[in-house]
Parts: sequence; C-alpha cells; structure tokens
Amino acid sequence: MAFIEITSLSIFICFATIYLQQTTAEALSCHETDKAALLDFKSKITKDSSRILSTWDQSTDCCTHWDGVACDPSTGRVVNLTRPGVFTGPDDTPWDTMLYGTISPSLGNLEFLRVLHLGDQKFLTGSIPSELGNLSHLTDLFLYHNSLNGTIPASFQNLRKLSRLLLGENRLSGSVPDFVFQDMSSLTLLDLSENQLSGEIPSSVGKLVSLQRLDLLANNFSGSIPSTIGALKDLVDINLSDNQLSGIIPVSMGEMAKLSGLDLSRNRLTGSIPSSLLKLNSLSVCKLSDNKLTGSIPSSSISSTGLYKLYLDNNMLTGELPDSIGNLTNLYWLLLSNNRFTGKIPSSIGNLKNLGSLQLARNGLSGPIPPQLVKLKSLQLLDLSFNPLNLVKLPTWLSKMTSLFRLYLAGTGLSELPEWLTTMGLAYLDLSSNALAGELPRWIGNMPRLYSLNLSNSGFHSAIPVEFKNLAGVQELYLHSNNFTGGLDSIFAKPGRQYVILDVSDNMFAGPIDENIGDLNAMQRIQTLILSNNPFGGSIPKSLGKLTYLETLKLEKNGLMGAIPSELSNATFLKSIMLSNNNLAGGIPSSVVNLKWLQEFDVSHNMLTGEIPPHSATIPAGSFEGNSGLCGSPLPPCNTA
Ligand SMILES: *[C@@H]1O[C@H](CO)[C@@H](O)[C@H](O)[C@H]1NC(C)=O
Ligand SMILES: *[C@@H]1O[C@H](CO)[C@@H](O)[C@H](O)[C@H]1NC(C)=O
Ligand SMILES: *[C@@H]1O[C@H](CO)[C@@H](O)[C@H](O)[C@H]1NC(C)=O
Ligand SMILES: *[C@@H]1O[C@H](CO)[C@@H](O)[C@H](O)[C@H]1NC(C)=O
Ligand SMILES: *[C@@H]1O[C@H](CO)[C@@H](O)[C@H](O)[C@H]1NC(C)=O
Ligand SMILES: *[C@@H]1O[C@H](CO)[C@@H](O)[C@H](O)[C@H]1NC(C)=O
Ligand SMILES: *[C@@H]1O[C@H](CO)[C@@H](O)[C@H](O)[C@H]1NC(C)=O
Ligand SMILES: *[C@@H]1O[C@H](CO)[C@@H](O)[C@H](O)[C@H]1NC(C)=O
Ligand SMILES: *[C@@H]1O[C@H](CO)[C@@H](O)[C@H](O)[C@H]1NC(C)=O
Repeated sequence: MAFIEITSLSIFICFATIYLQQTTAEALSCHETDKAALLDFKSKITKDSSRILSTWDQSTDCCTHWDGVACDPSTGRVVNLTRPGVFTGPDDTPWDTMLYGTISPSLGNLEFLRVLHLGDQKFLTGSIPSELGNLSHLTDLFLYHNSLNGTIPASFQNLRKLSRLLLGENRLSGSVPDFVFQDMSSLTLLDLSENQLSGEIPSSVGKLVSLQRLDLLANNFSGSIPSTIGALKDLVDINLSDNQLSGIIPVSMGEMAKLSGLDLSRNRLTGSIPSSLLKLNSLSVCKLSDNKLTGSIPSSSISSTGLYKLYLDNNMLTGELPDSIGNLTNLYWLLLSNNRFTGKIPSSIGNLKNLGSLQLARNGLSGPIPPQLVKLKSLQLLDLSFNPLNLVKLPTWLSKMTSLFRLYLAGTGLSELPEWLTTMGLAYLDLSSNALAGELPRWIGNMPRLYSLNLSNSGFHSAIPVEFKNLAGVQELYLHSNNFTGGLDSIFAKPGRQYVILDVSDNMFAGPIDENIGDLNAMQRIQTLILSNNPFGGSIPKSLGKLTYLETLKLEKNGLMGAIPSELSNATFLKSIMLSNNNLAGGIPSSVVNLKWLQEFDVSHNMLTGEIPPHSATIPAGSFEGNSGLCGSPLPPCNTA
C-alpha cells in the first residue's frame, strides 16, 4: 500500500516535472489572446513601408520574436507595446518611420498592458478606440503626433494607474468630459496639445494631484481656467497658450509652489495679474502675452527672482512700471510692449545685469531714458518705439552699449541723427516715424554691418548720397514716406549682400526705372519691391522678369508708360502685381495674369485696351476699372458686333 503510494507519488512527481517544464515553456511563449490582439492590430495597418511590424508573424512567439513587444516572463502576458515612429536604432542611427491605418479596438484585449507607445507614427488615423479604457494596468499611453480624430474616450476614466498620457499633435475634437480625470491620481504628465479640443478645461484636473506637466496649448478650449488648478502642488510646467480661454487668472495659481514654466499667452484672459503669481520663487518663465489683462503691476508684487522670461506684451496693462522690477536679476527677456504703461522707465532696470532683450514699445512711457541702462552689458535688443519719450537727441551713452545689435526707436520724437551710430555694431536700426529731416548724411554708408534699416515716415528731402552703396550688408531697406529725390542708383549700386525687401514708396524719386534692374547684383534675391507713389517715368523694365525671387511688385501711382511686358511672367513666384494709376497702354499679357501663384493683381486707372485674358485667379472688377479700352470678364463682355 505504502509502496504503491510511493510509486504513485514518484509517478506524480515525474508527471509534475513534465507538466512544470511544459508550463515554463508555455509561460515564455505568447498568450493566445494577446497574440490574436496584436495580429488584429497589424491587420488594420494598411501601410508599413519601414517594415517595423515585419517580425510580427503568426508562426513565431510574440514574446521573444516580435519587435516592440515585451512580456512578463512569469505569465507570458504582453506588458509593453512600444513602436514609436522616431527612435534611435542600434549604432545610434536615428530612425523616422510611419504607419498608415487605424488603431484596432482589439488592443483593449491586452489585459496586462502597462506601456502602449505608438507616438510619432504620423499617419495612424480614425478615432482612439474606447476599448483602450479596459487596459487598467496602463501606466504610459503615448499616441502623440498621429492623425487621430474623434473625441477622448470617456472610458479613459478607468485608467487609474496612468502616469503619462500623451495625445498631443492629433486632430482630436469635442470636449473633455469632467469625470475623465476624476481618478487619475498617479498622472504626472498630461499632453493634449495641438488638437481641436473645445469646451471648458474640466475642473477635475484639480484631482490630478501628482501632475508635474500640463500641456493643453493650441486647442480651442474656452471658458475660464478652473480655480481647482491651484491644488496641483507638484506642477512644474503649465502651457495653456493658443486657446480661447476667458475670465481671470485664478488667484490659486499663486499657490503652486513648484511652478517654473507658466504660459497663458494668446487667450482672452481679463482682470489683473494675481499679485501672488510674481512672488513665486520657483517661477522662471512667465508668458501672459496677447490677452486682455488690465490693472497695474503692484510694486510689492514682483519678487520671483528666478524669472528669466517675463512676457506681458499685447495686453491692456496700465500704471507705472514698479521699481521692484529691478530685483529680477536673472531676467533675460523683458517684454512689456503694446500696453498702456505710463510714467518713466524705472532706472532700476539698469540692475538687470543679465538682460538681453528689453521691449517697451507702444506704451505711454515718458522720457528721458534713464542713463542707468548703460549698465546693461548683455543687452542685444532695445525697443522703446512709439512712446512719448520726446527724445529729440539720442543719448550719447547709447554708443557705449557694445552688445546692442537691434535698436528700435521709431516714433520717439528724434530730430537728429548722430554720426556716432556708425561706431556701434548695429544690425537692425529703426528710427522711423521721427522728425528726422533734411539730408540723409553721407556717413550713413559707414554702417557695413547693418542688415535692416528703417528710416521711413520722416522728413528727409535729399537725394540718396553715393556713399549709400557702402551699406554692403543691408537686405531690408525701408525709406518710404519721405521726400527723397533723384534716382535709385546709389541704392542699386551696392556690392555684397542682395536686397530681400526694398520699399521706397511715397517719395519724390524720379526718372526712369533702370532698364537693367533685373541684371543688377543687388537685386538678384529681391522678394518685395515697392516703388509706388513716386514720379517715376519711362516704361516697366522687361528685365524685372529675371528677378526669380520676386513675389511682390508694386509700381502704383507713378507716371509709367508703355506696355506691361510679358517678360514679367518669367518671375514665376509673383503673388502680387500692383500697377494701378499709371499711363500704361496696350493689352494685358495672358502669361502675366495667369502666373501660378498670383493672388493680387491691380491695373486699374491706366490706358489699357483689349480683352482681359481668361485667368484662373479671382480678381475683382475693380482691379481693371478706369481703363476705357478694356473688356471681358470680370468687366462687361467685349462688343463683338
Ligand atoms: C516595459 O517598459 C518599461 C518602461 O519603458 C520598462 O521599464 C520595462 O522594463 C519594460 N518591461 C519589459 C518586460 O520589457
Ligand atoms: C472593454 O471596453 C468596451 C468599450 O469601452 C466595453 O464595452 C467592454 O465592456 C469592455 N470589456 C471588458 C472586458 O471590460
Ligand atoms: C476621422 O477620420 C476618418 C478618415 O480618416 C473619417 O472617415 C471620419 O469621419 C473622421 N471622424 C471624425 C469624428 O471626424
Ligand atoms: C473654436 O471655438 C470658437 C468659439 O469658442 C468657434 O467659433 C470656432 O469655430 C472653434 N474653432 C474650431 C476649429 O473648432
Ligand atoms: C508653450 O507652447 C508654445 C507653443 O509650442 C511654445 O512656443 C512655448 O514656449 C511654450 N511655453 C513654455 C513656457 O514652454
Ligand atoms: C526690491 O526692489 C525694491 C525697490 O527697488 C526695494 O525697495 C527692495 O528692497 C527690493 N527687494 C529685494 C528683496 O531686493
Ligand atoms: C518701418 O517703419 C514704419 C513707420 O514707423 C513702420 O510702420 C514699419 O512697421 C517699419 N517696418 C518694419 C519692417 O519694422
Ligand atoms: C514732402 O514735401 C511736401 C512739400 O514739398 C510736403 O507737403 C510734404 O508734407 C512732405 N512730405 C513729407 C513726408 O515730409
Ligand atoms: C521670358 O519671357 C519671354 C516672353 O514671355 C519668353 O519668350 C522667354 O522665353 C522667357 N525667358 C525665359 C528665360 O524664361
């Protein structure tokens, strides 16, 4: 009996060993349910040109042979499905792949899945299957940068272990149901950016107590920012820019003690900046640009000494700039343009020793400019344009600001142009809309590093001095709305860099336009050429057609005669051709009015004749009127009788 028992025991042990060996072997191999789910996923992929799913084969073990699939070795259940479109391959080569097709709902059967990464495949389309809400073990769900549409599935409320949810850069729409975030207390990263999501930001975001980063930028969220957001004590970065958010900035945001990056720009926010916000020690980037914020910056409020970027431009802020701004000694960018600030520029700004960019344009600031600004040894950009500074003269200490690279002082009441400007290394200079008058000085040619020069809308009345041709670096030149006389030879004669934009409209330039304009070195890269409203005579040079970069040509209100040259159509990128109010005669060349990219065309008030050639661009009748000899659509039909 005992023997039999022992024998049966040893037989049992023997069987058990075989069984165990079998189950170990089975445990390593792929579970049938998971294999079927993965094969169904593959079957919905219509194109896999990079063959990133090529190892997924019915006959092999998904746990050991399929790229991007990882199993729990003790259960054989799939835990990771990781096929990102952009990755680093063996030997550090970067790979960029794409998958076309939809995401199969059967992925919802991968019961033990923890990581699902199909981000950056670009062309996964259709909606996110609600079945993914069944993946209760999921910690990472990455579907960003695809072409997914439809809504965020309500079933996602079941993903309670989720730590990272990245759905940005898709075409998701509709509102986000409030309950979705009710139980995601482990979520650290939420990215829904660059979709078309609308409705309010669910107030349940306040339940995401572990959240460190929230990206909802570039959607269509409306309503106000939920005040519950202040409960997110671990939040480091929040970006809600480019939405339709209205209402006030919740005061509770000033309680987010770890907040470092805050971006609420390009919304419709109103009310004032909560005083607690600019006291956050952790804050390094604060962007509130392009809203409708009002009120002033109370002097007591600014003490975020870690601030590196402070963007408050394009709002309706009022009051004086507080002296305490000078305490923000880490500041590199200070953008306050386009508000309603008044009073003087605080001299304490001179303490911002790291400041690289100071933009205070279009406010109500009065002069003088505090000389303490000379201490800003790192300043590269200074924009004080369009403030009632009544400068008259440029302060001479400006010449000591050796790192200054861009200087914008348009509309600041200047009436003198000092020669010491030539000692600075300026690349961008805008002194337009001032009371600069008289002759353009000959020393202007001594600024060879200049790239962009704006002297428009002042009172210059002289010819362009020959020394102008020494401005070898200039590519953008705005001289419009002055009383310049003579010809354009000194402008055209320069060697070196070629112009990209040239606007000399609204002056008294006269004579014919150089017939070889299309062969001049300086013009070979011109994109925008504006000679309108001058007393130029002669004909439109045929050689303009050789300017193959030309997109905008404006020759309105001159005294131009002769025909519209058909050669213009050789400048194939022309988008805008404006020739109204001249004395042009002859017909409209069909090749010109049929230029491929043409958007704007106006030949009104000339002496043109004949039938308007059939054309595909939509051009209003008004663009042809005032030519008694023109007929045909969009004007009345030609009289064929
Ligand atoms: C699954 O992915 C996670 C995170 O990428 C990783 O830590 C883990 O080791 C992976 N599991 C397996 C079984 O490869
Ligand atoms: C899986 O998800 C779908 C859709 O959300 C649901 O109808 C179904 O009951 C779920 N299945 C399981 C087993 O939970
Ligand atoms: C999603 O895109 C597919 C085409 O990829 C389209 O057939 C479907 O109607 C779209 N659905 C929604 C909700 O826009
Ligand atoms: C965004 O929302 C506004 C109203 O808040 C609506 O007029 C607009 O059509 C929406 N745009 C998109 C792309 O959904
Ligand atoms: C927010 O997103 C926009 C758009 O991508 C970006 O330009 C900006 O730098 C982001 N803000 C922060 C603080 O990172
Ligand atoms: C901040 O600036 C104000 C005014 O310039 C000054 O009175 C105050 O002491 C400064 N605070 C700190 C902490 O430096
Ligand atoms: C040049 O100055 C004019 C007049 O102040 C201004 O309207 C224009 O925007 C400036 N151009 C550029 C490119 O800054
Ligand atoms: C140009 O001169 C005329 C008179 O010669 C004057 O009426 C006009 O205001 C001047 N234009 C500018 C921009 O200075
Ligand atoms: C320029 O245009 C004229 C007239 O349309 C045409 O005969 C000539 O071939 C064109 N030249 C080039 C280089 O395209």
